Amino acid sequence: MTVSPLSGKRILLLIGGGIAAYKCLDLIRRLRERGAAVRAVLTRAGSEFVTPLSVSALTEDKVYSDLFDLTDEAEMGHIQLSRDADLLVLAPATADLIAKMATGRADDLASTVLLATDTPVLAAPAMNVRMWQHPATQRNVNQIERDGVTLVGPNEGSMACNEYGMGRMAEPMEIVAAIETAFSVPHRPLAGRRIVVTSGPTHEPIDPVRYIANRSSGKQGHAVARAAQMAGADVTLISGPVSIEDPPDVTMVRVETAQDMLAAVETALPADALVMAAAVADWRVVERQEDKIKKADGGVPHSIALTENPDILATVGHAGARRPRLVIGFAAETQNLLENAGAKLRSKGADWIVANDVSPEGGVFGGDRNTVRILHANRVDSLPTQSKDAVAAHLVERIDAFFNGIDTAASLESDPK
Ligand code: C5P
Repeated sequence: MTVSPLSGKRILLLIGGGIAAYKCLDLIRRLRERGAAVRAVLTRAGSEFVTPLSVSALTEDKVYSDLFDLTDEAEMGHIQLSRDADLLVLAPATADLIAKMATGRADDLASTVLLATDTPVLAAPAMNVRMWQHPATQRNVNQIERDGVTLVGPNEGSMACNEYGMGRMAEPMEIVAAIETAFSVPHRPLAGRRIVVTSGPTHEPIDPVRYIANRSSGKQGHAVARAAQMAGADVTLISGPVSIEDPPDVTMVRVETAQDMLAAVETALPADALVMAAAVADWRVVERQEDKIKKADGGVPHSIALTENPDILATVGHAGARRPRLVIGFAAETQNLLENAGAKLRSKGADWIVANDVSPEGGVFGGDRNTVRILHANRVDSLPTQSKDAVAAHLVERIDAFFNGIDTAASLESDPK
């Protein structure tokens, strides 16, 4: 019999006030079956949906419910409650509790425990679809994720309020799986590998105040760097100007122009792999003006002479002994995706090209989701539309498989177009 990663773990379950709270009763049972000790905090709203008595019967412990219960404070302060846990699980994570976490409010026991802890937190959001989609909730969700909270769900489906959409709480077994993942020993298959990732646009100055740029947000490149770092690689992320956060524990190199980026990539070599996710500007201005260009007399615009930038991918793809074993390019296309990306694979000496359709209706630029195809010399693999993080995780798995000499084609649906 295999021992569950939950065996012997102490979980503090914070039950918020939503109809999905009833699922917590099953969750407690399943966690305890796997050998975890579960202690519960029930918010006032939570106790409108499940009774302290049923929670207590299932945890076989006292249920903690009110910050100002002096007996509780004397026996077990709110700080101690979270200290005595290996993981805090917030389910259902209501819009209100997420908002409190995002803003650091602590006005009841659950929110105080959440603020007073440095124990990892897993949250299972559940709310009406419109509440979930509201920009305020999305802002709060992004904030708590940045603060290190892991989310499980929500799922899409029909809701208690007779609506359909995103907002159903993850099922108890999905939450169990997420908790098991949280306790699993980190899998670091790329430990010892050096990976250089480029991300974001480049800015090509025209004069001190103007530049040529493109719509790249850097989200996909940064996600690849984060996924590679989480897989144990030593990552150098060379990024053009972006307004997103640096991934943790990578070596950041900030650049502005394509020429700077080429120099930074060359400095970062040798590496095992290069992932060129940056949207490098194809051209730069021939003569960058020292002073701001003034409107021409009569309002006729100046013409600006352009010259081609160095192709970083092609330079590294054909770099001989200094070429990384694996060179991956990206191709953002608005038409003839496979033809154009295939031509780039050959001309730039890349091993793989990750091609995505960036025609405006797809919402890829700046968005959080991506639909990509991975082109190899002899085949194309189509991936489903998924988050940029999921695309990154998938790519990193393939990079790992490549270094282990495993061809992933057999296990994937190939599209031999
Ligand atoms: O812009 P293009 O579609 O040609 O980009 C394809 C790939 O080539 C991308 O991986 C991009 O990072 C890379 N590239 C480059 N240097 C350039 C232009 C593109 O490395 N000057």
